[in-house]
Amino acid sequence: QKILDANHIYITACGTSWHAALIGSYIIEELLNVPVKVEYASEFRYRETAVNTDSVVICVSQSGETADTLAAIRKAREKGALTLGIMNVVGSSIARETHCGVYIHAGPEIGVASTKAFTAQVTIFNLIGILLAQKKNSDVEIIKTIINDLGILPRLVQSVLDQGNHISAIAQDFIDVENFLYLGRGYQFPVALEGALKLKEISYIHAEGYPAAEMKHGPIALIDDNMPVVFIVTHKGYDKIVSNIQEVRARGGKIIIISSVMNKELENYSDHIIQVPKINHCLQPVLTTIPLQILAYH
Ligand code: F6R
Repeated sequence: QKILDANHIYITACGTSWHAALIGSYIIEELLNVPVKVEYASEFRYRETAVNTDSVVICVSQSGETADTLAAIRKAREKGALTLGIMNVVGSSIARETHCGVYIHAGPEIGVASTKAFTAQVTIFNLIGILLAQKKNSDVEIIKTIINDLGILPRLVQSVLDQGNHISAIAQDFIDVENFLYLGRGYQFPVALEGALKLKEISYIHAEGYPAAEMKHGPIALIDDNMPVVFIVTHKGYDKIVSNIQEVRARGGKIIIISSVMNKELENYSDHIIQVPKINHCLQPVLTTIPLQILAYH
């Protein structure tokens, strides 16, 4: 009830979990119509915030042990906030020190890079969003769609995983490249950040993620035929992102498109396309992130 009554929510995390938190903030704002602020735990813990006894502070952590996230949640508790954890590791410090929470039960992350934890975190934010929205009697149509799409999500994830060979072949074209740009809008902006982080972490290739429309405010200066650009395209905001693609095309940038839309226009504008199934926009990041993880891997 306290979460439902909250007039503002903070979400705090680090790294990949922060990217999932950003998507989570979009979901909660959309489904519950409450303002949500996302903070890097390493900033939040040292900053004077407006957190008080009316605040709800959600933290996201795969390991449940990240020092900054743990410190952020301790600070929120000291200020009297209700704290909620979204963790993977059962019994971890953050799980013990939050008032309540959810385990994502993604299984152990074997490699350094957080991958299945990210998609599970996004899925959990959908579950939290629909649970709270149901209790608040918010827009039932979107809730029904998300519930339905959660049912088919495993099959759709498998269909993306099945494209491993195609994605590996694309990666061969870029092994000598030193920089990458990832661009997305709306729910796909955090996906762009995550795609760039995975490439840095796994392939040691410099990469940046940006909101696609921000490109023209600086990064566009970097685009030439040595700068591949990965665009994440979905039905939501399609026309807007196509105009961003045209801008990159005009400067000779190599274009890889991850898309839930398939048409001749995109084929004409891109060097490579990876198609993903279309699903509700709150869940779509699950399907658009996986090809980026596989691309970074190869
Ligand atoms: C990226 C990655 C890191 C973690 C970050 C937070 O692949 O693994 O960016 O996401 O260190 O870790 P957790 O989620 O355990 O708090």
